[in-house]
Amino acid sequence: MTLSAAAEPGAEDAYAPPPFEIPHASLWIDLQRDVARVRAELRFRRARVGVTDLVLDGVGLRLAEARLDGQVLADDRLTHSSHGLVLAAAPDEGVLALDYELTVGSAGQEGLIRLGEALITHCEPEGFRRICYFPDRPDVMTAFRCTLAADPEAFPDLLCNGALVEAGELPDGRRYAVWDDPRPKASYLFALAAGRFDKLEDRFVTRSGRGVRLGIHARSQDLPWCRHGLAILKQAMAWDERAYGREYDLDDLNVVVLPSYPGGAMENRGLNLYATEFFLADPAISTDEQMRRVSAVIGHEYFHNWTGNRVGCRSWLDLGLKEGFTVLRQQQFMADLAGADEARIDDVIQLREVQFPEDDGPLAHAPRPAAAAVPSNLYSRTIYDKSAEIIRMLATLAGPAASRRISDAFFARLDGRAAAFETLFDIAEEVAGLDLAQFRRWIRAVGGFHVTAAWTWDPASKRFSLTLEQSVRTVTDHPNPGPLLAPVRVGMVGPGGQALAFRSADQSGPLATEQVLELREGRQTFVLEGLAAPPVPSLFRGLSSPVRLTTALDPGELAILARYDGDPTNRWDAAQTLARRAVSERLRLGPGGHIQLVWRDLFDDLLAQAAEAPGAVGRALTPPDDRALGLELSDADPEALAQAQHALAAEMTPRVRDRLRAVHARLAGAAVTDEGVGARRLRAVCLWQLMQAPEPQDLARCRSQLDSPRMAEACAALSQLVACDAEAAKAALAVAFERWRAVPQALDQWFAIQATVGPQAADRVEALIGHSDYRLDNATRVKAVFDAFVLNMRGFHRADGAGYRIVARIVVALNPGNPRLAARFLKAFGDCERFDAARRAHANEALIGILAQPGLAKPVESLARDLLSAGSLAV
Ligand code: PHE
Ligand code: ZN
Repeated sequence: MTLSAAAEPGAEDAYAPPPFEIPHASLWIDLQRDVARVRAELRFRRARVGVTDLVLDGVGLRLAEARLDGQVLADDRLTHSSHGLVLAAAPDEGVLALDYELTVGSAGQEGLIRLGEALITHCEPEGFRRICYFPDRPDVMTAFRCTLAADPEAFPDLLCNGALVEAGELPDGRRYAVWDDPRPKASYLFALAAGRFDKLEDRFVTRSGRGVRLGIHARSQDLPWCRHGLAILKQAMAWDERAYGREYDLDDLNVVVLPSYPGGAMENRGLNLYATEFFLADPAISTDEQMRRVSAVIGHEYFHNWTGNRVGCRSWLDLGLKEGFTVLRQQQFMADLAGADEARIDDVIQLREVQFPEDDGPLAHAPRPAAAAVPSNLYSRTIYDKSAEIIRMLATLAGPAASRRISDAFFARLDGRAAAFETLFDIAEEVAGLDLAQFRRWIRAVGGFHVTAAWTWDPASKRFSLTLEQSVRTVTDHPNPGPLLAPVRVGMVGPGGQALAFRSADQSGPLATEQVLELREGRQTFVLEGLAAPPVPSLFRGLSSPVRLTTALDPGELAILARYDGDPTNRWDAAQTLARRAVSERLRLGPGGHIQLVWRDLFDDLLAQAAEAPGAVGRALTPPDDRALGLELSDADPEALAQAQHALAAEMTPRVRDRLRAVHARLAGAAVTDEGVGARRLRAVCLWQLMQAPEPQDLARCRSQLDSPRMAEACAALSQLVACDAEAAKAALAVAFERWRAVPQALDQWFAIQATVGPQAADRVEALIGHSDYRLDNATRVKAVFDAFVLNMRGFHRADGAGYRIVARIVVALNPGNPRLAARFLKAFGDCERFDAARRAHANEALIGILAQPGLAKPVESLARDLLSAGSLAV
């Protein structure tokens, strides 16, 4: 096993610092269409006594000559291997100069690759060794100077990390540019881009008055859609100054945006690289989710400049430090941008629907794993999102003032260095006086954190006893870390909806309407007193820990929370929980059960508040998607659940049809404005609900919404029409295709929606991969189809196994050219374990078929083995 491997005793001690440091590296890279000639001068210095060999990684490089301090090295001093060079008996320090050549790779590879007409790098985690002989590990931090030279006809723009310090013409007419990044950084943050780009230019003045040149580089047809991204980038720069006191330190910040950039989005120092889908955004071509995702990613890459670039990770196993901290910062930025309530609900959805299933499946691993077979497989939702939740909990426990002291100390002490995940806790203990001995267990814990809550109310003493019992899924051969320390934000809602004040009986503090309890024991009872009335508890507000909570809340109590809870996340969650329970009751008992009635009343009440709070009502009433439905009944057939959901909604629609139409119509004006996110959300809910039992005029309503100039509106309508009968779907798809075909970003939606909707998506995807606008080397389009498809429970997990077979086929097809993308889709099989034996057998067969292929890339093979060796997909 790779990720989930057990911690060996003393695994921590296994870390060995690099034997040699490279304080400075100068590169001269002569770029041609298919090859690059490189001279590298590495200044090295022994960091550990006793080690004499200087070992450099290097893959696919053809060495011509090597010199040590100016002397050509004899063959017996230098050993070549397929993965690098070894300089025997290296002196304590010196300069190693290497002349070599490399071949430009293709789009799915690492290192220096060709993307369209451009040359670009893709290094994280281990691609730099395909560009330069180097100790290619994240704890070697180096100041780089890089000179790029190329024919200006082919590559007029030459970009690299840091600041442009010189540019000019060479005697043979080619042009060169010298870039310098004075601060030490890990080699995976090296980047260059060469090509012909159009530019958006701007300037940002930092808090201390330094001007930063901003440049967004893209193909001319993509540049018009880059304005939103540029504006967000400037907001991110200002936000980091305000929220964390972090200024940008270079004179230049360049961004290159290219279709199918294989890294997705990448934070290289001073030169962030993006695939188009992570930077282009405009209301005319992007849904609201896409607009928000682009903002979040742009913030994310920018915030890495401090969390990741200036403070690095000691080992790839500590990846969660840079990714978790950066995700948290990105989430906090989005809370400022989109509103705290909106943003936190987005986080919770992502965590529950994507990270929790990873915890439940065969690929479960710790945020700080003890081992990894392939570093590139570490980029998981657990490393990103669960790590972010852990650092968020730390901030909750410390409080805002101490949190800022912790982050200030973190940046001040570790700038220019590589840190372990645990170092953050060391600093927090020291600076904020916290005892984190127990809290640290979080980063070693594998699997979901479950809490069951029960309570009693004593009317005589007006005391509320809350008992919380925690468990972490036990994973074979992984030591249980013991109980975790979790902050529990609690509020109390009175019978009439009022917020009740209370305090913990063992603290003599003042009464307050919210408290943060600290759950430390496996089973712990908290006595809360001072309550004026019997309360309904609102637990883990704002999802204060990444918890799977089981409570004894009855439907009536859930409805109280859904109406009145002062915490917007829990208010939304209560409505969603009730909706899911209503669906599962419909599945078990048929129409008319108690939960369904409570849900129906709540639906009516909330719909009546549409005018005051369209966004919150839209959130609350959004039908749980099939992933969310699966959370309620984890072993249920996704098809049966979807049918039950449809039946329940179809029964409700006739009663509220007129109101739904009225709300939909009334919000039409707001829905075409930039601020109309909430209006669009609620209109989409109305449309969905109407279309569960449509009359002809509802179909017409969908068709006319499809003509909206706003992508969000058009897509909401198209999804409904695709889910409709075949005729309506066909016509709508034809209309949308004509409208969107000229803009790839918009056309991606046309592909994605067809892969998203219903079990027939498996057949549609089959047809789509033969479409003339679909190509295997267009990674963005492939992702549009398959990212959507693997999240479509009814499609991917279709009972006849068709979904598994299609995904297995794309994995095999992508393996030779783009193994990372192949691995991305392969991961989806981690969700199959919870289904019935027939589905598991289909999944098993698909995986065996993949493993039988010759020439599987290492990340693909290792993942396929992990999927098959653990849990119930095992042979
Ligand atoms: N470090 C990138 C991010 O999180 C993701 C990435 C990983 C990009 C590996 C390329 C390669 O922003
Ligand atoms: Zn990141």
